[in-house]
Amino acid sequence: MIVILQKTAQDAANFTAQLVANALRDNPKSVLGLATGRTMEPVYERLIKLHKQEKLDFSKCTTFNLDEYVGVSPENPISYRATMQRLLFDHVNVRRAATHVPDGMAKDLAKAGEDYEKAIAKAGGIDFQLLGIGTDGHIGFNEPLSSFASLTREQVLTPVTFKQNAGLCEGKVPTRAMTMGVATILASRRAVMLVTGKKKAKLVAEVIEGPISAMLSASALHFHKDCVVVLDAEAAQELFDRVAKFSDHFETIRTELAKANEAVNGAVRSYESRIRPSGQKLQKLLGKDKELKKIEELPSGETLQ
Ligand code: F6R
Repeated sequence: MIVILQKTAQDAANFTAQLVANALRDNPKSVLGLATGRTMEPVYERLIKLHKQEKLDFSKCTTFNLDEYVGVSPENPISYRATMQRLLFDHVNVRRAATHVPDGMAKDLAKAGEDYEKAIAKAGGIDFQLLGIGTDGHIGFNEPLSSFASLTREQVLTPVTFKQNAGLCEGKVPTRAMTMGVATILASRRAVMLVTGKKKAKLVAEVIEGPISAMLSASALHFHKDCVVVLDAEAAQELFDRVAKFSDHFETIRTELAKANEAVNGAVRSYESRIRPSGQKLQKLLGKDKELKKIEELPSGETLQ
């Protein structure tokens, strides 16, 4: 697991979008795993901008969304199909037939789950999986105690999730969802989890620092062979204090994004090719001063390595 710190939520979203864009540019036929939720909105806004201004091409890619509410038709504005159309699909040149969202209206939900897994396998597996995290630690809708071996299936949502999603569903949060399983997510070639805001700081510290637990589905990402966690400064706050004590265990980079696009592109490229921080430099830095602001004073574009 690699943790990437960004200054603001917008920087973190831009960085995440840039990782998606790089994946698409490297392989226009990429199979993308997509997420919904408030955290993803600026990522999709950024991708639309990249499509319009820099001709980022979605025409050959295939997408699979993580989840969908059960009993909610795709036409219903609270459905994740409608949400994805509104936030991304309607604004880029992705083929409608190449976009997949689990079937929450299926009569046989178990079969619909199996079919979704088959469709992912037929597409060649997921190259790049985008993830957010729920306040109960879910990824997709894998609520606490989801098996790490789980595949796409029906899940009953927890009261914590009802509360989290109430604002997105006009107060009427469905009680069940179809979701890719934890094992489906772990099978992706790369997983990128974006977490922003201080409300999730404690949660994300638990996920990154462990212990790995079925009560915290996101902690299963430690078993992922190529997982990147992108945090803004607020979400990193709890982690940062603890990293100071345990920084040997982490590979953390700092990228200066304040000077916008070129810096992002350059940093992402160099992240891909050469950044493997030793941990020592970070430890040294943190040893001197544990305050995030000190890290922010690094010269533009400098990374820890
Ligand atoms: C939705 C999904 C969820 C969300 C999570 C965070 O497709 O997969 O796991 O990513 O609930 O939602 P926000 O970003 O609204 O806090």
